[in-house]
Amino acid sequence: MQQVNFTETVLRDANQSLIATRLPLTDFEGILKTLDQAGYYSLECWGGATFDSCLRYLGEDPWARLRQIRKACPNTKLQMLLRGQNLLGYKHYPDDVVRMFVKKSIENGIDIIRIFDALNDLRNIEVAIDETLKNKAHASGTLCFTTSPIHSLESFAKLAKQLEGMGVQSVCIKDMAGIMGPTEAFDLVSAIKASVKIPVVVHTHCTTGLGFMTLLKAVEAGADVIDTAIAAFSGGTSQPATETMAYTLRQAGYGVALDDGILKQVNDFFKPLLQKFLADGTLNPTVMTTAPDALIYQIPGGMLSNLVAQLTAQNKLELLDQVLQETPRVRADLGYPPLVTPMSQMVGAQAASNVLAGERYKNVSKEVRSYVRGEYGQAPGAVDPALQAKILGDEKPVTVRFADLLEPGFAKAKAELGARAESDEDVLSYIAFPQQAETYFEQRDAKKKRTFAYTLEKVGD
Ligand code: CO
Repeated sequence: MQQVNFTETVLRDANQSLIATRLPLTDFEGILKTLDQAGYYSLECWGGATFDSCLRYLGEDPWARLRQIRKACPNTKLQMLLRGQNLLGYKHYPDDVVRMFVKKSIENGIDIIRIFDALNDLRNIEVAIDETLKNKAHASGTLCFTTSPIHSLESFAKLAKQLEGMGVQSVCIKDMAGIMGPTEAFDLVSAIKASVKIPVVVHTHCTTGLGFMTLLKAVEAGADVIDTAIAAFSGGTSQPATETMAYTLRQAGYGVALDDGILKQVNDFFKPLLQKFLADGTLNPTVMTTAPDALIYQIPGGMLSNLVAQLTAQNKLELLDQVLQETPRVRADLGYPPLVTPMSQMVGAQAASNVLAGERYKNVSKEVRSYVRGEYGQAPGAVDPALQAKILGDEKPVTVRFADLLEPGFAKAKAELGARAESDEDVLSYIAFPQQAETYFEQRDAKKKRTFAYTLEKVGD
């Protein structure tokens, strides 16, 4: 019987997609021991936006959160999402920082690191993969799914083969926008399964309503692991429901190792939390609905709402159609980057600017200039030569791996922080999000002083 494994996303992607990653540890720590008993392949619980959100909004140390989860879940593999050389942000970090971040993530409890690059430029993930393997953890090499005249089953299968050659233990197809149809998933998983021996993982979202069907067809083509979210936090911009996929797959004759009774306990725990976030406005009910517009325009839902907001702010919403027609042209000019953050924002803003100015590339954003210079990595296809000449003039684009141009950063940041850092983990928080980390360190110190004063008073009694 073919076994299908499940990665539970409630603590990371579902949390991020539905409630902007506002779930504090105190809200979910009570269910961790139960989650550990459910029979998941892994628990996606860290990385992505969780790190930033802990420091910026929740007054939590992300490293302490990870250690707490590890302690409560000794039996389940803990998984994180990492943006390759960009770690958890959008700029390139030097190799020493990337290596230290990966090493510390594993030391603090991570078993599986899903590593991707927005452009599928494998040079931008090789250092993170290498360090993951050095520390005896599981590197899941990831492909960002997109469609374009230059992306094909063959090109994705070739990338998967290259990833396997880099030593990763699994390949993940990451459909961040939820635009991969069931037939596409079937064909893509089949092509990748034919080219590699390692397990294939499929990640999608329900945004456009395709998610459940896409996962079913992916499994029919041989996908080994699927990403799902416990029912209360599933659907909409989140993942398909764990319980529903388990039911469907068992009915179709697949082996599923999940414990239904435990899943019910987990769902019963998260139901009132969902209600709380609905009541306080953190959860906007529209993210729970089905939004097929992304399929019509072939751009992610988040990008579409950004464009609408941008045009509305300028009182130019009537130009939306023109901007939507300009968007694929800009993407083609830039060599068909996958429309994932930060490329989706970059392409959308440039298309809007081209229409609003009444002249293409009259204004070019700093980000598009950096992209054309090669600072984000190699574009999947060729950047339009005329556009490149217009933006760069005589300057030559960077052809080496961008991180090769960066000075080491860890020791410098550690010296900068001095006594404010209590650990190397603090230094990494500071490198990733300097302002948020500093504010967090100040809050932490103030809290300690309060506790100390209180202890003195007690002693004085
Ligand atoms: Co996702």
